[in-house]
Amino acid sequence: MVSYKELGLVNSREIFKKAIKGKYAIPAFNFNNMEQMQAIIQACVEENSPVILQVSSGARKYANQTILRYLAQGAVGYAKELGKNIPIVLHLDHGDTFELCKSCIDFGFSSVMIDGSHHSYNENVILTRKVVEYAHRYDISVEGELGVLAGIEDDVVAEHHTYTQPEEVEDFVSKTGVDSLAISIGTSHGANKFKPEQCIRSAEGVLIPPPLRFDILEAIEERIPDFPIVLHGASSVPQEQVAVINNNGGKLKDAIGIPEEQLRCAAKSAVCKINIDSDGRLAMTAAIRSTLNMHPEWFDPRQYLGPARELLKALYKHKVVHVLGSAGKA
Ligand code: G3H
Ligand code: 13P
Ligand code: ZN
Repeated sequence: MVSYKELGLVNSREIFKKAIKGKYAIPAFNFNNMEQMQAIIQACVEENSPVILQVSSGARKYANQTILRYLAQGAVGYAKELGKNIPIVLHLDHGDTFELCKSCIDFGFSSVMIDGSHHSYNENVILTRKVVEYAHRYDISVEGELGVLAGIEDDVVAEHHTYTQPEEVEDFVSKTGVDSLAISIGTSHGANKFKPEQCIRSAEGVLIPPPLRFDILEAIEERIPDFPIVLHGASSVPQEQVAVINNNGGKLKDAIGIPEEQLRCAAKSAVCKINIDSDGRLAMTAAIRSTLNMHPEWFDPRQYLGPARELLKALYKHKVVHVLGSAGKA
């Protein structure tokens, strides 16, 4: 058993409390390699923001959980070396079984998500309760989920949203003992969140997707005031990056994300954790494609991973300063 406390990590309880009070959200950035970790830490140290480093089960398979643990421990040391001891959480994203959550807890994670949203309500309660009972023994925070997001999470593909039902949240939170709750109000995973025909076109030709269901968020907040709420699928899919990718040999079609103003609005509510993965993938891909296109003679990975890390860092800084409002809150 490795204790996250010995690794210098924190659980999410205190930082969520502060975020709700301060009306901002903590960034939860997915990572599975060194350059992503460095970009996240450089950005959050320079902007003095707390941060959640999150690992999906696919990322864990790809990178190996021992390596990821040492990368997270390295992140703590790296932040200190850069001059700030910011709070860093190592979180399992979309854990789907008790065994996976237990393994991450035993391996030094400070927070886990058990995503029982694809099960029946009662099965979701039982599974989530079981994870909470184990995690709380070690002071590890647990995120549960109610409602289904459209899109792809690892092997699970959901065609349509099932919005969170506000009538269920109080019962779910009290029966399971979760520390935070992921909800479904119209966000979805991946870079294709909306079809063009679902959007309206502005005078400038920009596609504007349908707004998030803030009415559902408000109804949830009324039932569980000040309870930490999590928004998944919150990438904005910057069209500049999509254009760079497509102008350098990529083929991304109908890539549409959540407008940043809506996320800013959500961050001022009880939404205190906002998950961003796809925007990082787009930034890395845009930088690598354009660098290699400009320099076809280059073959040292540092020559294209370096610019990718720089663009990622700029993206993360933008998110914490202009979207989530977590800059200066470490
Ligand atoms: O929730 C989905 C995250 O973007 C993780 O994606 O399972 O492909 O690593 P992944
Ligand atoms: P995006 O695909 O919108 O970045 O969502 C990431 C996410 O929710 C990770 O759990
Ligand atoms: Zn997610």
